[in-house]
Amino acid sequence: MTAHTGVGEGLGPRRIALINEKGGSAKTTLVASFASYLALHRGRRVLAIDMDPQGQLGKVLGVETRRSTRSAIDMLLDTVLGERPSDPNAPERSPLPISPTRTPNLDVIGSNKSLAFLPALRPESGASETSELRRALDDSAEINTYDFVFFDAPPSFGALTLNVLCAADEVVIPVPLTYLAMDGCAELLRTIAEVRSRYGNPALQISMVVPTFYRRTRMANEILAKLKSRFPKEIAQSVIGYHVKIDEAQSRGLSIFEYAPRDRAARTLAELTEELELRGRDFAELPRPVREPPTP
Ligand SMILES: Nc1ncnc2c1ncn2[C@@H]1O[C@H](COP(=O)(O)OP(=O)(O)OP(=O)(O)O)[C@@H](O)[C@H]1O
Ligand SMILES: [Mg+2]
Repeated sequence: MTAHTGVGEGLGPRRIALINEKGGSAKTTLVASFASYLALHRGRRVLAIDMDPQGQLGKVLGVETRRSTRSAIDMLLDTVLGERPSDPNAPERSPLPISPTRTPNLDVIGSNKSLAFLPALRPESGASETSELRRALDDSAEINTYDFVFFDAPPSFGALTLNVLCAADEVVIPVPLTYLAMDGCAELLRTIAEVRSRYGNPALQISMVVPTFYRRTRMANEILAKLKSRFPKEIAQSVIGYHVKIDEAQSRGLSIFEYAPRDRAARTLAELTEELELRGRDFAELPRPVREPPTP
């Protein structure tokens, strides 16, 4: 297996989007945990980009985002309002609105409500433009100094999620083990297929499906079994249960690895991050089977 690590291979960073249209499925939690673990314990340079107007990722990573702080919308504005003029003396695109976090090697591009106005800012309002984020990143020299770029997507489906799916090479899908989970997955798979075929990102791959909010109930086990059979290769080897320490850590702007490194939540999230690190663009030969769910 040739795992793509994003390091020293001349391919640029792995660009990984956490997507699920279902709210509260642990997208932001996983972006923050993957990013923190890779920076803290794996020596990777990581950029986490918040593409959700709720603007929670910065908070969770302990970064104070004031109204005056440049944010994701500033990164997209040049692209939204037109290409950089071909005049070689034209001013260069401004640098990405990156804020450092407390953790060395972990940076964030925060967001706020103004990001929700993205579609309205387009000169031709209603145009189905979906490549603004990709172009903004491709035009930036800084992006190649990172090993991983994570995108946190909003819960609702729309222009922002489409932009994220067009900018990403890989998708990680957190699936809360609830009754409607499979419906959401089917919908998401249709969206991903459409992004591959109609929106110019044919290589978009699902790198991992992560069961979240696992409880040892019959319903949760049935849904988990369905997920495993639907995603035999993509299903993660660990599942995440309910862990109050996750919420507590986030309320303090700390990663679980700093707040409660010995808690089971930290161990599970570390295992998941290491698994994601192994799953590059060619992960088909990863060893199976799935680990047993944790005892509550
Ligand atoms: N395994 C867990 N155990 C306990 N609480 C969790 C767990 N994972 C996430 N949470 C909490 O659940 C809430 C929702 O998680 P999170 O914000 O990561 O979901 P999301 O998918 O990003 O939501 P949204 O769609 O609104 O952006 C947060 O308060 C988070 O701290
Ligand atoms: Mg979120």
